Amino acid sequence: MMSLMEEFLKESQIPESYTKKSDQELTDEGWRLKKELGQRVYIPGHHYQRDEVIQFADDRGDSLRLAQLSAKKPDAEYIVFCGVHFMAETADILTGDHQTVILPDQRAGCAMADMASIYQLERAWDKLQETFGDTILPMTYVNSTAEIKAFCGRHGGATVTSSNADKMMKWAFSQKERLLFLPDQHLGRNTGVKLGLDLNQMVVWDPVRNAFEGEANEKTKVILWKGCCTVHEKFTAANIVSCRRADPDVRILVHPECSYDVVQQADYAGSTEYIINMIKHAPKGSHWAIGTEMNLVNRLKNEHPDLTIRLLNPVMCSCLTMNRIDLPHLVWSLAQIAEGKPVNVVKVPDHIARDAVLALDRMLMQ
Ligand code: 13P
Ligand code: SF4
Repeated sequence: MMSLMEEFLKESQIPESYTKKSDQELTDEGWRLKKELGQRVYIPGHHYQRDEVIQFADDRGDSLRLAQLSAKKPDAEYIVFCGVHFMAETADILTGDHQTVILPDQRAGCAMADMASIYQLERAWDKLQETFGDTILPMTYVNSTAEIKAFCGRHGGATVTSSNADKMMKWAFSQKERLLFLPDQHLGRNTGVKLGLDLNQMVVWDPVRNAFEGEANEKTKVILWKGCCTVHEKFTAANIVSCRRADPDVRILVHPECSYDVVQQADYAGSTEYIINMIKHAPKGSHWAIGTEMNLVNRLKNEHPDLTIRLLNPVMCSCLTMNRIDLPHLVWSLAQIAEGKPVNVVKVPDHIARDAVLALDRMLMQ
């Protein structure tokens, strides 16, 4: 007899036949299924998804926009999320019980979200309360598990995205004296500095050692969880220097998941949506080096042939987990829905969803 785990793995594994079809066969089948399923299926696609996948998206967006849009599709029976696991969880939390969220490949996780577990957070919280008393509000980047969001919800905190981190941090300071920012230390630090905090008013919390890294004292305003995006961390200040040396006219545009040094030395820093808008409104003929996920940078390059666009780090690879969603997995997911046997369903347990929605709603209401 198969164990539950073996059954799950078998169910979440794509049949070999899908991996043998040509891209053209899969594309044709994808469009046929999308037409057949019509309004029953809504496909949100994150900007970092592959071109072959994003063509099927009903809407493209960053994590904030996709969370908002998913909440506004009560008529879709299925939400086939082309993004990563935390985004599918968020969609499940924000949509109705009559709706089913599917992540075409369950292996599409997020390295950053994996850097904060609820076990680590609970033991950190005890120590932080001992140090600072009841003066801390927990805030989490949406790039985190539903359990981390639920913890923030239960303790009066909220979620943030890269598009609203400064607004949400201001709100947090109207609630409590200091905040714990999870799981991306870089977004937390860059946002704190943008709001006028000194670097010495922020201290890093190492969840593995369960200890501060540096001095925590009465001046501390932000406790930064020691997590990061393994993709954005690969852009360095040295990349900026070499881009400027190679092209003195280049403008450097980066995502705030990049380190403090990179953001400080860049010409512009902002969320995925901000990066897209900057390029959309860029002067004809201008030169850009962009520090964010490669699929998006390549797409911007193709969509704006009048601009010179390059990736800030020329030897980067794309986000491996975002790329797990490929044409075979997407088409297989649609085919399974059409057959009435949906696979790779993402379902957040009710007791976690109930608290996580508090944190998401506090963000969506701001
Ligand atoms: P945003 O979509 O909030 O810009 O986040 C970028 C990201 O890394 C998503 O995983
Ligand atoms: Fe996670 Fe970074 Fe990939 Fe976004 S780009 S899914 S934050 S690892």
